Amino acid sequence: MAKLDKSRGSMRKYIPFTLVMLAVLAVVIFFIPKKEAVVVEKITSEVSEADKVENGIHVRTGLIAKDGYELVVANCTVCHSAKLVMQNRMNEVRWNSTIKWMQETQNLWDLGDNQKIIVDYLVKNYPIEKVGRRHALNNINWYNLK
Ligand code: HEC
Repeated sequence: MAKLDKSRGSMRKYIPFTLVMLAVLAVVIFFIPKKEAVVVEKITSEVSEADKVENGIHVRTGLIAKDGYELVVANCTVCHSAKLVMQNRMNEVRWNSTIKWMQETQNLWDLGDNQKIIVDYLVKNYPIEKVGRRHALNNINWYNLK
C-alpha cells in the first residue's frame, strides 16, 4: 500500500509538466496554420491591390479596363511602360506591323490568338484622334482696335 502511494505520488509529479507540454503543443498547432493564412492573405491583398481597377482604369498601368485589357497588361507592359502603348494610336494594320517589328527585333513572343484580342482592344480604346479643322469660334466679344 505504501509502495502504491509512493508511485502514485511520483506520477503526480509529472502532471503539471504534461499539462504544460500539451498547452505548448496546442499553441504550436493553433498558430502554425494561422501564420500561413496571414501570409497568404497578405499576398492576395497585395495582388489585388496591384490589379485594382478604379473608375474604369487599371490603376497600376493606367490602361482602360475594358475587354481584353488583362492581356495587354500581361503582354505589353513587361518591357516598357503602358504609356508607350497608350500614346501610340494606330489602326489595326499598323498595330499588327508594330507587333511584328517587336517580334523580329525586340524578342516579343508569339501572341497566338491573343494578338487579335489585343489589337481589337487597342484600336477600340485608343483610336486615332481625328485631326481636322478647329471648331468655329462662338460667343466672342470682339473689340475695336484703336
Ligand atoms: C519583349 C519586350 C517587349 C514586349 C513584351 C512588348 N514590347 Fe513594345 N517595344 C519593345 C521595345 C524594346 C520597343 C522600343 C522602345 C523604345 O523605342 O524605347 C517597343 C516599342 C513599342 C512601341 C513604340 C513603337 C514605335 O513605333 O515607336 C509600341 C507602340 C509598343 N512597343 C507596343 C507594344 C504592345 C502593344 C505590346 C504588347 C502586344 C508590346 N509593345 C510588347 C519591346 C517590347
